[in-house]
Amino acid sequence: MENNQPSSFFIQTFGCQMNERDSETIAGMLAERGFTTAKTKKDADIVILNTCSVRENADKRFFGILGQLKKIKEERPSFVVAVCGCMMQQQHIIDTLKSKYPWVDLVFGTHNIHAFPQLIEGVLAERKKIVDVWEEAGAVVEGLPAKRLYPFKAFVNIMYGCNNFCTYCIVPYTRGRERSRRPEEIISEVEQLVAAGVKEVTLLGQNVNSYGVSSHGSDYCAPKENGMDFAGLIYALNEVDGLERIRFMTSHPKDLSDHLIQAFRDCDKLCKHIHLPVQSGSTNLLKKMNRNYTKEQYLHLIEKLRKAVPDIAITTDIIVGFPGETEEDFSETLDLVQTAQFDSAFTFLYSIRKGTPAANLTDQISESVKHERFNRLVELMNGITAQINKSYEKTVQKVLVEGTSKTDKTTYTGRTDSLKIVNFKGNSALIGEIVEVKITEGKTFSLTGEVIS
Ligand code: SAH
Ligand code: SF4
Ligand code: F3S
Repeated sequence: MENNQPSSFFIQTFGCQMNERDSETIAGMLAERGFTTAKTKKDADIVILNTCSVRENADKRFFGILGQLKKIKEERPSFVVAVCGCMMQQQHIIDTLKSKYPWVDLVFGTHNIHAFPQLIEGVLAERKKIVDVWEEAGAVVEGLPAKRLYPFKAFVNIMYGCNNFCTYCIVPYTRGRERSRRPEEIISEVEQLVAAGVKEVTLLGQNVNSYGVSSHGSDYCAPKENGMDFAGLIYALNEVDGLERIRFMTSHPKDLSDHLIQAFRDCDKLCKHIHLPVQSGSTNLLKKMNRNYTKEQYLHLIEKLRKAVPDIAITTDIIVGFPGETEEDFSETLDLVQTAQFDSAFTFLYSIRKGTPAANLTDQISESVKHERFNRLVELMNGITAQINKSYEKTVQKVLVEGTSKTDKTTYTGRTDSLKIVNFKGNSALIGEIVEVKITEGKTFSLTGEVIS
């Protein structure tokens, strides 16, 4: 960059792995053009906020940060504020930005990230404001650059969008319909990552089980016979030399195939962990949520998974206080949690999302009831997690070392095959390596251990 030209950027990412991956692409595009990363928002010439809309508190945090950025803009008019991500795919958010946050320079959405270089050029060159959000996703764009967060593990998109329209969820509106990448594009990306030192890939999709099934706007749809479905893709990736671990997120229970369960047995690189969001234990509520399975069907799936892969770790997502949730519905959830013995669960208070069917339901649950149920669920779940983690004591686990602990630079941290966090004493040479760790203590939120190799 020439003198006086903006040259540094700072990206803040909210929400899920999809957004984290998108931010890597945006960072890659800027790095390719000579921009460098700033340490803080204050030090940056351009700040990009990549937003999430899945629950109300994500929206609130975003508007709070925008408020802080106004001060920087007042002190330094050349400062550029760009916003993108899922919130931008909703008209009411764009309207709010226009009326209350006029210091935002660039607004773009989830479907036109590939156009970011031209958009930011326009803002910088002409000092004008740009709002460019596409309602519909176009074809999958391949070959975009990426500035990856880690050298040893990487997220790999295998599909975009969601067709499921769970009645509480905003994602199908912000991410559009399902589109799958071609298997050869995915395999070649993974091969390139491995050549660059990556040991672990996490395959990303809102519902990876329907990979290749839906052809909406996508140039890949698995042919009925011999086509590559999700499990087929895992078998293919298992053959990539030098790759050590394969993970995936997220799997919808209604589409989990026997072929995938078999892949857990056959593919040595596939980590023995599955995140299988259940949302509720009440068949009645599952129906209202449009999840397309019953409590019994879900528990049957867990049984099948555990029978095929006895040491598999199973984690889940649960929503408390969906409209109309009765005490009986909630006790079904507690019962399911007790029976399923999840390794851990992300628990969420139901949050009204404008534009979703559940937002119009009149039997919303009061905040106090939601919180009271939430606390009971968390207490039950933490007890189960602690007990399972305790059972890891004295075992030896393979751990991919990710870095040092935030609070103590002599303590290193990494993840087991089953995705559990392990803390241990180590040295910086271990970062990015898979080491054997003997577990000395299993706590509620992590394991502690000693490196033995
Ligand atoms: N595609 C993934 C999840 C995406 S959102 C899947 O289907 O599993 C991640 C989690 O956020 C969901 O599993 C759900 O538990 C939670 N969530 C989504 N919408 C929500 C809402 N309106 N209120 C509370 N939690 C919500
Ligand atoms: Fe949302 Fe349901 Fe799609 Fe997951 S499957 S992203 S919860 S609509
Ligand atoms: Fe949030 Fe969008 Fe992900 S709404 S959870 S960032 S897909």
